Amino acid sequence: MNKVISKLKGKKILVTAGPTREYLDPVRYLSNESSGKMGYAIAEVLHGSGAQIILISGPVNICSDLPSEIVFPVTSASQMFEVCKSNFENVEGAIFCAAVADYAPKHQRCKKIKKEDNEISFQFVKNPDIAFEFSKFKTSSQKSIGFALETDDLLHNARQKLVKKRFDFIVLNSSLYPGEGFGCDTNKISILKTDGSLKTYPLKQKKEVAYDIVKEFSKLF
Ligand code: PMT
Repeated sequence: MNKVISKLKGKKILVTAGPTREYLDPVRYLSNESSGKMGYAIAEVLHGSGAQIILISGPVNICSDLPSEIVFPVTSASQMFEVCKSNFENVEGAIFCAAVADYAPKHQRCKKIKKEDNEISFQFVKNPDIAFEFSKFKTSSQKSIGFALETDDLLHNARQKLVKKRFDFIVLNSSLYPGEGFGCDTNKISILKTDGSLKTYPLKQKKEVAYDIVKEFSKLF
């Protein structure tokens, strides 16, 4: 094992992965194309380093070798937030890789919505921002990193998230090019640090990308 990531041995680290689903009725939901591959790859590298992982996962279709007792499956953003919140105090680090829905329907219908009018409207309410809530809570010894998935102004938006959510660094990725971002087995990332430095990596398998991220993360301790 690499000397740098071995620093994480025994450290309690929370990881979020995958999408969330926000149900409109019992059979329909709003979600996104996150497969969970990036988050699970990070959790696997961390687990291999001897860290104690708590993986909070949205609905994914991944066969993982991670022990089932460290994986907490959730569906909605609110559920993901509740499980994360109950662990905020006990963790030494957090990696927020999930693509969490920013809004959820104000009212979830209990019966399937029928096709009647030509138009249909829903009211949406803001979901809790898990990483932001953690940032309010975070002590100087707790480290957290997040991701920014953007279609435009990647660097500008990422910088704002880095500051607002008090991340120790942020991982930038895009969904504009084949082989990057959602769904695929590869990703192309840049890491933006709080000192303004930006390091861009070549396109790699998500497992290798996860290793690069965990290596940088371990240097925070
Ligand atoms: O799952 P894959 O198919 O492998 O794809 C990986 C990925 C593209 C989903 C991943 O690499 C990624 O970019 N995840 C974050 C995507 C995202 O929704 O970013 P954001 O810019 O909306 O959110 C910024 C940060 O705040 C993220 O760390 C996010 O986890 C966190 N967040 C956002 C909203 C919210 N309500 N709670 C949060 O914790």
